[in-house]
Amino acid sequence: MATIAAPRPTAPRRRHIPLVGQTLAYFHDPLRTMRYHYDTNGPVSDYTFVGGRWTMLLGPDACETALRNADKAFANAGGWGYLIGPFFDRGLMLLDFEEHHHHRRILQEAFTRDRISDYTSTLGPAVESGLDAWSPHPDFQAYPALKDLTLDLATQIFMGRVDVADADEMARVNQAFIDCVQAGLGFIRAPLPGTRWRRGVRGRRELEEFFRRHLPAHRAGDGTDLFSALCQIETDDGQRLSDDDVVNHMIFLLMAAHDTSTITVTTMMQKLGQHPKWQERCRAESLALPSHPRLDELDGLTSVDLVMKECLRLVPPVPGLARQTVKDTEVLGRRIPAGRLVSIGLHLSHHMDELWTDPERFDPERFAQQRREDKVHRYAWQPFGGGVHKCIGLYFGGVEVKMIVHQLLRRFEWTVDPDYVAPMNYHSLPFPMDGLPIDLHPLSERSAV
Ligand code: HEM
Repeated sequence: MATIAAPRPTAPRRRHIPLVGQTLAYFHDPLRTMRYHYDTNGPVSDYTFVGGRWTMLLGPDACETALRNADKAFANAGGWGYLIGPFFDRGLMLLDFEEHHHHRRILQEAFTRDRISDYTSTLGPAVESGLDAWSPHPDFQAYPALKDLTLDLATQIFMGRVDVADADEMARVNQAFIDCVQAGLGFIRAPLPGTRWRRGVRGRRELEEFFRRHLPAHRAGDGTDLFSALCQIETDDGQRLSDDDVVNHMIFLLMAAHDTSTITVTTMMQKLGQHPKWQERCRAESLALPSHPRLDELDGLTSVDLVMKECLRLVPPVPGLARQTVKDTEVLGRRIPAGRLVSIGLHLSHHMDELWTDPERFDPERFAQQRREDKVHRYAWQPFGGGVHKCIGLYFGGVEVKMIVHQLLRRFEWTVDPDYVAPMNYHSLPFPMDGLPIDLHPLSERSAV
């Protein structure tokens, strides 16, 4: 495995407003901010972000040290807790060490291959009926349509059809999620009137009430949705989740699954729209499969898989991870004191010239067996994180993304201006502020044969 030589500081230093610090620069363009820090200060540097003092770890070696966490110095509760703690309290990602291990072992039972196979059989028809509502036209806003679709899927796969009856209630739940996700990156970190923080606190309350109301039915039933799975699962040694645990995990899981899948499919639609040859190549594979493929049949979508990996490299849905040191530690020879907030800047590793050939180029073949550029360093490509907190839903997330893209390819064809650059918003997870306009048409009969 390669080790990356630390850069020699070259770029001129910039002035920043105290407290606001580099926050605005990060929101505007996290990759540029990370690159600036890396070029100026090397892989380990200090900065100010949303009112706190942080150490930023950049490049695969520094990220690896924190993610492998050999000396158990990096904890999630203080790191993610600082950003989203009150809104995603006791979600799996916010637990640490023994307690995290205990909960992860139980939750893992909801992500076995058999369970994912059950979710996949609900997913096929659910994607199809969601896409029935799309009216293609030359200025179609792909991002909001995909966001609605993935929320609808989440309610069906995660909660079961029984809960989807009340559209008003689902709209409120959706808004509560958005408020929770956006609350953490506000400057004012107290529930003052009119603040994102306050909306987040209210959203959290609404979500708790929602899941508590629906919990007894899921405990009693034998549904195959994720909510039922969390209510029913029991490890070999008889460990189960309490009602509070189920509610806390459901709130976090829905958040973790929703925006991440949406942004992945959004980037794929953009890139496939800009690269028609890849769109045709992917479509040929999709047309060879049934409309609702089984889990094992989805493996046939090898080109879609390459495109997905490349899109996760170019636009990782989670560009940076948060930690806090629970004791003094060292990364690449630099001391980090106990109690320091730490960000792990995965995004930069995905774009480093030292790791990738022509990193800004859309080139899915770089992941093909004969090239495997991601193998140059174990932490070169980490859209799902690494170590004990590595995404528990990465397999299911991939299945959902592929099922959506598969059905899009079978129904529609679309183009995006090759020079289009998405104006991204990074206030929560990344999304295109213009909604990603695409020229969307029903698949012509010529293409369908
Ligand atoms: C393309 C889709 C996805 C991406 C890019 C993604 C990304 C990530 C990343 C980077 C982490 C690590 C966080 C850290 O170490 O601080 C993570 C953790 C997690 N993800 Fe995902 N995720 C995706 C889909 C999903 C889905 C579909 C689910 C659930 C159904 C899910 C549930 C979780 C959970 C529970 C954790 C916390 C794991 C732990 O702390 O042990 N994710 N995800």
